[in-house]
Amino acid sequence: MSAPDSPDFPEIPVGGFVGEGLPEDPANTTGRKPLGNPAEVPELSEVDCPPELQKEIENAMSRYPEKNSASIPALWAVQRLYGWCSPEGVRQAAAVMGVTPAYLESVASFYDLFFLEPTGRHRVRVCTNISCWMRGGDRLLGAFAGATGCDPGKASHGGTVSDDGEFFVTGSECLGACDLAPMASIDERYYGPLTEDDAAAIVRELRDGAEVEPELALASRGLAGGDDPTDDPRVDSLKGPNR
Ligand code: FES
Repeated sequence: MSAPDSPDFPEIPVGGFVGEGLPEDPANTTGRKPLGNPAEVPELSEVDCPPELQKEIENAMSRYPEKNSASIPALWAVQRLYGWCSPEGVRQAAAVMGVTPAYLESVASFYDLFFLEPTGRHRVRVCTNISCWMRGGDRLLGAFAGATGCDPGKASHGGTVSDDGEFFVTGSECLGACDLAPMASIDERYYGPLTEDDAAAIVRELRDGAEVEPELALASRGLAGGDDPTDDPRVDSLKGPNR
């Protein structure tokens, strides 16, 4: 099929839309300004990469035949170090991996577990998908929003950070732990089933730097490979199916 013959149809530049760097965004609608040329592999000597970050990324790369396969662990390492995938961190990871920052940006922007802007010190994702919703996931999200001082409307529409910068709270699609419904991921660890009172207690514990409700953690359940004794016939030697 040929392109419509219309004077309004935009002409595609030679080389297409890729390979010339990220599209220009003069209004900076994303609020994100790439550093340097995102389409060029940065020199390691130019990016001031912290040695521990470089080592972690190199370790990840050594586990894969293709260096690009280490993109997700590399971005996790950046996010752990800086709290988000900052342009500087992405550039450092790109230099270590020998890929373009534009490539890593494209990976990071695909997954909503990567933050492309600064976020709260603690991250609370409340599942509001069908199993959790039927067991009060929406009310649980509201309870977390209330306890952290986050706007509940914003929390349920893409997430929001509390005024004190301590908490990022968001609703989430299914997190794959429906047997814990209603559940939440708190600083990347799963907890459930949770009540609205649990939400308030968890926020207090996070503020105090205390351990979060250990008996409600997925990691402490028999099926997840924890040490809890169980009569569940699916559990062999107290080790869950994921071990
Ligand atoms: S519906 Fe909540 S974890 Fe699946």
